[in-house]
Amino acid sequence: MRLFKKRRKRRIETTTPPVPVLQTERLVLRSFDENDAVDVYAYAHSNQVGPMAGWAPHASIEDSRKTIRMFIDGGEVWAMVEKKSGRVIGSIGLHKDTVRSIGGAKELGYALGETHWGQGYAAEASQEVLRYGFEELAAPIIGVSHFPTNGQSKRVIEKLGFSYEGTIRHAQQLPDDSITDIVCYSLLKSEYEEQKK
Ligand SMILES: CC(C)(COP(=O)(O)OP(=O)(O)OC[C@H]1O[C@@H](n2cnc3c(N)ncnc32)[C@H](O)[C@@H]1OP(=O)(O)O)[C@@H](O)C(=O)NCCC(=O)NCCS
Repeated sequence: MRLFKKRRKRRIETTTPPVPVLQTERLVLRSFDENDAVDVYAYAHSNQVGPMAGWAPHASIEDSRKTIRMFIDGGEVWAMVEKKSGRVIGSIGLHKDTVRSIGGAKELGYALGETHWGQGYAAEASQEVLRYGFEELAAPIIGVSHFPTNGQSKRVIEKLGFSYEGTIRHAQQLPDDSITDIVCYSLLKSEYEEQKK
């Protein structure tokens, strides 16, 4: 008889599972990797990109590395890799909804480097992420929002068939300390299925 039980080493899971690889016609959506920092910095240092999405332009490659680590730890954000160049041209995320408390509700977000604007990449990536959210994660609803001044994101949201649901006034404080409203939209799983037909 053993007097003392051998103490089992308890394994503490600290890592979130990575996002799955998704494909569209022109893009591969995959987990970020620390080696993506140069590509991320190339678009994220611009003052035209981050401020439209609520984050400050990256001041250094180290900023990009920190953001990438945060994306990897969160397990909610894909790197948008352009197939023809093999470069990371932006990011797209499906986050836990911060407004709704019902289970499984998600929130879409995206950002793309300026040199790739106007080619329909954000909508192409979003369509695949919406498919993943509704069909594989069984999200009952997916929300998305933009600042009132962001006409570009508004157009993407319209093209994706979201419904406008309202504007939250004085909703978010920006890195420059100004306060902005956010314009909110959503798509129900039933609406997504109807659109697919
Ligand atoms: C919003 C964003 C992701 C749109 O991506 P995209 O792939 O360029 O989207 P689209 O190609 O569908 O273009 C959307 C609209 O942007 C505008 N647009 C296109 N090219 C543009 C350019 N070079 N400069 C300014 N606006 C442009 C057009 O109004 C276009 O609408 P249209 O297709 O009806 O003409 C991208 O502009 C971006 O990353 N912006 C900065 C970050 C951001 O705003 N993130 C979203 C936060 S809610």
